[in-house]
Amino acid sequence: MRTTPLGVGRAPAAQAMPVDEPRHVVVTVNGRLYPLEVSVDERLLDTLRTRLGLYGARYGCGTGHCGACVVVRNDEETVPSCLVLTARLDGQRVTTYEGYQQDRRLKSLMDAFAEEGAAQCGYCTPGMLVSLRLLLEKEARVTEDVVRTALLSHICRCTGYYAPVRAVMKVVGADAVD
Ligand code: FES
Ligand code: FES
Repeated sequence: MRTTPLGVGRAPAAQAMPVDEPRHVVVTVNGRLYPLEVSVDERLLDTLRTRLGLYGARYGCGTGHCGACVVVRNDEETVPSCLVLTARLDGQRVTTYEGYQQDRRLKSLMDAFAEEGAAQCGYCTPGMLVSLRLLLEKEARVTEDVVRTALLSHICRCTGYYAPVRAVMKVVGADAVD
């Protein structure tokens, strides 16, 4: 009789799970553990806004281009939450704009944004601030070019970007942009 080695020719049990089966995940958002049952296609942006009541991440394009929905994953990287599936975040950490309300870097950026007129309609501002805050944390030497590069991931229809760049340079103590 022919025998088949275990596991050969068979899909692992996890892959055999129907795609419409809800997934159970535990995600830490802004330092708090959230056990969640989510569909495989639920976006992090929707989880944050509709389940957790966190509205700092905003819907702009839904395609990863505008930066309005940016959050920080695992304290390491900014990600567009419209492109991240919550089902893939089990055991991970997410920090949103709300999670930085006591953070001195965010406070400095907010003050500088206000002084420089870098927030106008404000729709893009939380996402922009989240990215710039991480930039200040990670980047040893923040130059105008570094700031401009960081802002490439953020579409702002109001400010023309000069004011946000001035605001960041004010925080790092450099000369303001002309
Ligand atoms: S809504 Fe996510 S990048 Fe635009
Ligand atoms: S301040 Fe209005 S889109 Fe940026």
